[in-house]
Order: sequence, then structure tokens, then C-alpha cells
Amino acid sequence: MSKTRIVIIGAGAVGSTTAYTLLLRNRVDELVLIDSNQHKAAGDALDMNHGMPFLGGAKLWAGTYEDCRDADIIIITAGAAQKEGETRTDLLKRNVSILDSIITEVLKHNSTGILLIASNPVDIMSYFSLKKSGWPVNRVIGSGTLLDSARFRYLIGSELNIDPRSVHAHIIGEHGDSELPVWSLANVAGTELALSEEIKADIYANTRDAAYQIINAKGATYYAIALALDRICTAILHDEGAVLNVSTLLENYHGISDVYLGVPCIVDRQGVREVLQLKLSADEQELLQRSADKLKGLIGSITL
Ligand code: 2OP
Repeated sequence: MSKTRIVIIGAGAVGSTTAYTLLLRNRVDELVLIDSNQHKAAGDALDMNHGMPFLGGAKLWAGTYEDCRDADIIIITAGAAQKEGETRTDLLKRNVSILDSIITEVLKHNSTGILLIASNPVDIMSYFSLKKSGWPVNRVIGSGTLLDSARFRYLIGSELNIDPRSVHAHIIGEHGDSELPVWSLANVAGTELALSEEIKADIYANTRDAAYQIINAKGATYYAIALALDRICTAILHDEGAVLNVSTLLENYHGISDVYLGVPCIVDRQGVREVLQLKLSADEQELLQRSADKLKGLIGSITL
């Protein structure tokens, strides 16, 4: 059997924590870290390699773009990260130009892998990656609202004292300030959630603003996003057909087209195999439309 390889471009907090998470969970045979700061990538590789006697036998190294050649998945986490007081969309111009040069390099060495984008603003970065790469839509995936949905499920679960894995609830739309909760479909084992409107409003606000809270507290978020990226990689490598709220190109999704947004998708070895049409309430449809309009406006402001 051929070896599975994941390349992570960007060895900042998110990239290195993702590498560590993939190693701990024994997901892959070969893991490559690439960063414009080669010392940082080399230091991370050395640090993690010293843990190999305690791990599952993967090979990890700090590499170059040539290592993208045999990659099954190329995760892009590079770019400026949100600082205190910044929104994700404030990063747009800086990160599009970084991404532009990264994709140019990746394309020289790989044409069959899956691009998994985590750099923010992730929906626009994913859309840009699709246009720039010319790869099929199924192979250009954004981490989307998978993390937000996890935060949402965690908060609902804490309120109800139920394991978050048993809470079925979705955050869709932008991974950012215009994301929306799909309360109309949220449930535990098919039963409606026993939550007051006030508590629901708090849960949504804490979900949407989670990154701000964490950045205020410690400067960056990385553990949960690393687990979300690990989840997507596992669904791909194990050909799972898992339903995950990743960011994908919408085509007539409640009338919305030509924008990347987080919605439930079936993810397997092909990447995004299918987009699931959620039955939304009229209010939810309107909020999704607003989220799409916001991102389209921002996409219009960059040169693709
Ligand atoms: C997060 O939501 C900042 O997008 C990052 O944690």
C-alpha cells in the first residue's frame, strides 16, 4: 500500500498543533511541515521527532514545496492570524497575497491532492484557492464552520449536561461574524432542545465570539481548530463519508451560488462528495443569504 502523506504549510500555532494532533492520533505515514521561517519548522520537527519513541512510527520532517509531490492532503494554515481587536476579514488582503504565492508553489509539484484551507478569512481563502488552482471543487475544502459547530455543540451539551457528541446542531455560513445557528434543526436524539430563547441567544453569541474570547485571553486559538482539521483529514483518508460542516462552493444552495460557505457536506476520499441541503426556516435562509452577501462583497474587493 502506498504511504499516506500530509503536508502542512504554515508552522505557526495552528500548523504545528495540527501536526502534533495528527501524530498523536496516528493518522498518517508521512507528515511534512513547510514554513517561510525554516528554523521554526525545523525546530518543531525536531521537537516532535523526539517524541517518536512514544508514538506510532510516522515520519515527520521540515520540508520544501517539492515534498508536496506525493501529498494526499495539503493543509494551508499560513498567513497572518487575528490579533486582539481584529476580525477575520481584516486579514483578507495580507493573506490573499501570501496564499497566492503558496498555491503557485504547490501547483508546480502536485495536481491530484486535496487542498484543505484553514487560513482566515477561511471561506474567501478557499474560494481564492479554488480559482487559483483550477482544481475540481471537491478537492478544495475550507475548514468552514466545523469548529464553530463543535463550539456550538459543546455549549449546548454543557447547558443540558449531555455529551457534545450526542448533540446534533449546526453553525453554517461564514466562519466569522455573520455565521448563523440552525436552531430549527438542533436536536438530541431527535428531541427538541429544552432551552429558553435567552439561553439560546447566549449560546449563539458565545459560539460566534469564541475566537475573540480566546484571543483576548491568550493571543491565539489552535487546539480545537487542530482537532477539526484532524477530523477532516480522517474523513478523507479513511474514506468515511462523514457529514462535516466544511466550507465549499455553493451552487444554488437556497438560491446562493458562487461563494464558499460552511454547510454540512459528505466528506470522503474524493474530498467533498456531496453538499447536503438543510431544510432551513425563513429567518435562517435570510441570515444565510446575508452571510453570502457579505462574503461576496469582500470577494469583489480582491483581484482574483
Ligand atoms: C477560530 O475561530 C481564529 O478562526 C479562528 O478559532
